[in-house]
Amino acid sequence: MSTDGRLADKRIIVTGAASGIGRAVAIKVAARGASVAAMDVDDTGGQSLVEEISANGGNARYWHTDVTSEAEVQSSVEAATEWLGGGIDVLLHVAGVLFGAGVDIREYPVETWDSVIDINLKGSYLVAKYASRPMLRDSKGVIVMTASGAGVLGGSSSYAYGSSKGAAHGFSMVLDLHLTEHGIRVNDVLPGNVNTPLKVAAERQVAAAKGDEEGLGEMLDSLVTPEGVAEVYAFLASDEANYIRGSVRTR
Ligand SMILES: NC(=O)c1ccc[n+]([C@@H]2O[C@H](COP(=O)([O-])OP(=O)(O)OC[C@H]3O[C@@H](n4cnc5c(N)ncnc54)[C@H](O)[C@@H]3O)[C@@H](O)[C@H]2O)c1
Repeated sequence: MSTDGRLADKRIIVTGAASGIGRAVAIKVAARGASVAAMDVDDTGGQSLVEEISANGGNARYWHTDVTSEAEVQSSVEAATEWLGGGIDVLLHVAGVLFGAGVDIREYPVETWDSVIDINLKGSYLVAKYASRPMLRDSKGVIVMTASGAGVLGGSSSYAYGSSKGAAHGFSMVLDLHLTEHGIRVNDVLPGNVNTPLKVAAERQVAAAKGDEEGLGEMLDSLVTPEGVAEVYAFLASDEANYIRGSVRTR
C-alpha cells in the first residue's frame, strides 16, 4: 500500500476498525493519505491494523474504545482529536454486533436484546455525540453511520439486530436534520451481505437452527468483499461525495 493522496490531509476516526468492514475501511482511507484514529474493543486486531498501515507508509493510531461506554468514547475521541491536530474531518462509525441470529422470538434472551441494542444503537449515539463536537465548532465535517439492509429494507436473522439497525438508520436521519445546517454532511451505509466474521457466524447459527448445511455453503459463496464496501465508505469520506444525501445501499 502506497498512499495515493485522494484523502490527503483528511483526519478520520474509524470505529470497529479491528475487523471486517471497519478494518478494510481503515486500510483504504489510510492508503489514500488520511490520518486514521482507529477504535475498537479488539486490541490485538487494532494494534495489528496500525502495524499494517504503518508498514505501508500510512498514518494510524489505535484507541481501545467500547462504544457503549460514554467515558471511553469521550476520552478516546478527545485524545484522537488532539492526535489528529485538533479537529476531525470524518467519522466513519462501523462498529457493531450481530447476536441472536436464528433464535426464536419465544426464546429470545433479554440479555441478547439489551447488548445488541446497546452496542449498535447507543454506541452510534455516543460516538456521534462526541465526534460532532469539534465538527460543530469548526462548522464542517462528515459523519457516516452504519445501518444495514436488515431492519431498513427488510427483515433480519436476529430480532434485536434488525431492530437496532432500523433505529440506527432513524438516528442518522435525525442527525442529518440537525447537523446539515451546521455544515456537517450525514450519511448512513446499508451494507448487503459481506464476508466478515460477523456475517459468517450469523449464517452458521441460522443454518444450525434450520439444519440446512447445504444452503449455508451457497450463502457463504455469495458474500461480497469488505474491500468492495470499503470503497463506498472511502468515497463518502471524500469531498467528491458532498452532493450525496442520506442513505447509500451497497452489495
Ligand atoms: N457483514 C455484513 O454482511 C453486514 C451487513 C450489514 C451491516 N453490517 C454492519 O457493518 C458493521 C461492521 O460489521 P462486520 O461485518 O465488519 O463485523 P466484524 O465483526 O468483522 O467487525 C465489527 C467490529 O466491531 C467491533 N466491536 C464490537 N463491539 C464493539 C464495541 N462495544 N465497541 C467497539 N467496537 C466493537 C468488533 O470488535 C469488530 O472489530 C457492523 O455495524 C454491522 O452491523 C455488516
